Formats: sequence, structure tokens, C-alpha cells
Amino acid sequence: MMKEGEHPFEPFRMKTVEHISLTTRGQRQQALEQAGYNLFNLPADKVMIDLLTDSGTGAMSDEQWASLMRGDESYAGSRSSQRLSESVNRIFGFKYFLPTHQGRAAEGILATCLLKEGDLVPSNTHFDTTAANILARGGTPTNLVIDASKDPNDPNPFKGDIDIERLDEFLEKHQSRVPFCMVTVTNNAGGGQPVSLSNIEKIHNLCNAYEIPFFIDACRFAENAWLIKQREPGYENWTVESIAHRMFSLSDGATFSAKKDALVNIGGLLLMNDEKLYQNAKNELILREGFPSYGGLAGRDIDAMATGLIEGVDEGYLAYRTGQVKWLHDELKNRGVPVLSPPGGHAVYIDAGAVLPHIPATDFPAQALTVEMYLEGGVRTVEIGSVMLSFISPENGKLVTPLLELIRLALPRRTYTESHLRHVIETAVSIVEKAQEINGMEIIEAPELLRHFSAKFCWKNSVSPTR
Ligand code: F0G
Repeated sequence: MMKEGEHPFEPFRMKTVEHISLTTRGQRQQALEQAGYNLFNLPADKVMIDLLTDSGTGAMSDEQWASLMRGDESYAGSRSSQRLSESVNRIFGFKYFLPTHQGRAAEGILATCLLKEGDLVPSNTHFDTTAANILARGGTPTNLVIDASKDPNDPNPFKGDIDIERLDEFLEKHQSRVPFCMVTVTNNAGGGQPVSLSNIEKIHNLCNAYEIPFFIDACRFAENAWLIKQREPGYENWTVESIAHRMFSLSDGATFSAKKDALVNIGGLLLMNDEKLYQNAKNELILREGFPSYGGLAGRDIDAMATGLIEGVDEGYLAYRTGQVKWLHDELKNRGVPVLSPPGGHAVYIDAGAVLPHIPATDFPAQALTVEMYLEGGVRTVEIGSVMLSFISPENGKLVTPLLELIRLALPRRTYTESHLRHVIETAVSIVEKAQEINGMEIIEAPELLRHFSAKFCWKNSVSPTR
């Protein structure tokens, strides 16, 4: 059903639709001013195509809606928690798990249980919430992704891999200060790029040698497993489920935001093999999330997650899903928009540094590009550059900036069609054509941690010439 160069056939049809409000450029300009030029502050009804995130924004299936009705709201021992256990054990295979209201709650509990001030946590690239949870407890997140990840055009099929040599050196030098290692699959902050199974095997071996626990940030494990099946020699004939099993069997646990590959609007998991950690994490969970049968969720959310976990590893769905991302990537690239290649699993990343080479990182080129994409076509994207990812290192007080200034076009699952994405493509192409006229931005106010969610901006040279 998938021909080269064509948008993939959707393996579903619509049963419920959601209205999109069409806006004028003038209305969008006004909305931007009110939002302090931060797209997180926009009212959603002023957005025509919302590619801000693929997290919790997908369409649930009829089976998942049926699961909501079936949800058992018993405080303890509910049938829904039993169904979740069955799905979780089938997919992940860890000894213990706890549901949480979303991924960052699992990260927060893990950091509380394992981390102390002065600790270091290496990963390929920590996502912002993971980094913030480590920083908030006095630790330092360290990113050790391979060099190919720095080059937006490097064809390496696994640009999410950790640089094993650097990890080895890092662990040798800091062993006593590393409470656990992580790897993010797929590597969201580094372009949604997959991590290979051979890399995960090597991380596992190193962590074993240094006796350091190894956790997977498993948000997009199904997309990662599918890309392993497509790209890593030797796994062509493996099922996505068996690849996922292999990945998880090489680790000691995982944090998981179910809002991605479990196809639900809310939910998360903390998974582990160590019983002592489980007991401590359970106490933390009861303190802040809820009883282990429901975490911070309603029984119906738990039930929808149980169903979504199984739908998320369906290979027909994953072929469509990653095929749609690839189609958008290829169309943009063919039309001269600089994108990060090869395409990842959940999003297309435009290289804002290449679109706006006249704007230095300190003037936030990627933020400027998100603002222009909205103004031009009502398309909401997200900055993954110096606004989101730079921070002052507690180690040495220096500013740590990201490798690339990117904007992410995250595709909500099972939500937008080819014609929606054609509008996105036309919007991006028209911005690239007038890129020299776009100014940098500056921050007017921002909190210390996770500043991209609420910072306010203005154009660097008073008013951008594009308006
Ligand atoms: N880890 C990764 C790799 C993520 O992408 C996210 C969320 C989280 C952890 C935290 O999960 O939102 O359920 O608390 N990413 C969203 C995004 C917000 O837009 O990429 P959460």
C-alpha cells in the first residue's frame, strides 16, 4: 500500500472529526503579540495545523474509546490495572512497573530515588524534562551522542547512538558519581533519530562492566524498534515486539511517556527490575501520584493505555506512521527546505541555523523560525535550540548550548492528512524564500528551568521587516 514518493495510505478511517478554525495573518499577528511571541502561549483555536508536539495529541481508536467506557475506577486491584499489567508485561518484560500520570513524573521519581547532588547522568541526549529533573536535584545531565548527529546531512541511519568510546572514558573517570546511565529512544532532542540495537548492547556491556544501572527513556520505543527493523542488518525478519523485548532485556529499567507510542492523551510508566528501587519508587508514587494500581490516572486512562500499547506496536500502523514522517521530510527537502536527514520516527526537523545563517545562536534563530511559520501559515511548531536546551552547567558555570538550532514539526499520531501537510510544506517554502528579511529575537523574561514553556520574547531589532 506504500509507493515511493507517495503519501502513505492511512490504515484507518474517520469516525469523529474536530473543527479547525481558519485565521487571517492579522489575527495571527495579534495572537502572537498577546502570547509574547511564545507559541506555547497561543490559544489552540488560533492554530490551523498544530505540530507543537506528538505527545498526547494523537487520535485514539474506537477500541481505545471502548476501553474508556470499560475503565474500572476501583481504587485498588481494578480490572483496568490488570489489563495494563498484561500489556506492559507483553511489551516490556521488566519485573516491576508503576503507572504515572506522564513521563516526567516517572523521571522525577527515578531521580528522587537514585540521584544525589553532584551526580552525573550520561545519555545520548536527555530530553528537556529529563535534564530538568536531574538538574533540579543537583545533578548534571551529560549528552554523549555520536558526532554524526551534529551534521544534519550525515546519512548514518542511527544518529541517536551514544559515542561508546566517550561513554567508556566518562564512566572510567566518573564511575562513583554516576548513579545510572540513560539512552533516549528515539533521540527526540537530537532529531528523533533511532538508536541501534548494537549500540544498546554496547551500552549494556559498559554499564555492566562499571556496575552502573542502565535505564531507557522509552517514549518512542515502537518507532525506534520499527526503524531498527528497517535499517539494522540482521533484524529484517524480527517482529517489532521481539526487537522491543531485546532492547528492554539489555537494560535495568525504563521511563515511559505513554502519550507517545502508547497512543493515549495522558499516562506514563516507570519500569524496573530492582526490587529495592521498586519499593522506594512505590513509596514516592503513593506520596505524589497515587496508589500503584492507578498512578496519577483514572481507571479509564489506564485501560486506554493498555489497549494503546498493543496498537502502538502494530506493524501496519508503524509503516504508515514513519512513512508519513518520511514523506513530509522528502517533500520539504525536494523543495529546498534544509531538513535533518535521514528522517526520524515522529517528526521532521528543519535546520533553522541553515535557513537563517545571519542570526547567531544567541539571538535564537529557531525561535524566530517558529514565529514565522505561525505567522505565515498558522502552523505551530516547536523550537529545539538554544531557548529549550541551553543551560548553565552546575559543574563549571559555563553556558552549554545545543549542537544544532532546530525547529521540530512533530506529527500527532493518526491525526493529519496529506492536504494538511501540503499546507505545511507551502508555508515552509515561502519562509525559506524570504529568509534574509527575518530578524533574531531576544528574551524579555524567563524562569530558570524549562524556560521555553513560558519565556516571553521580542524581535531583536524592534520590529521584524517581514511585518
Ligand atoms: N522523554 C522524551 C524523549 C520526551 O520526548 C518527553 C516528552 C518526555 C521524556 C516527557 O514525557 O511529556 O509525558 O512528561 N516529550 C514531549 C515532546 C513533551 O513534545 O516531545 P511527558
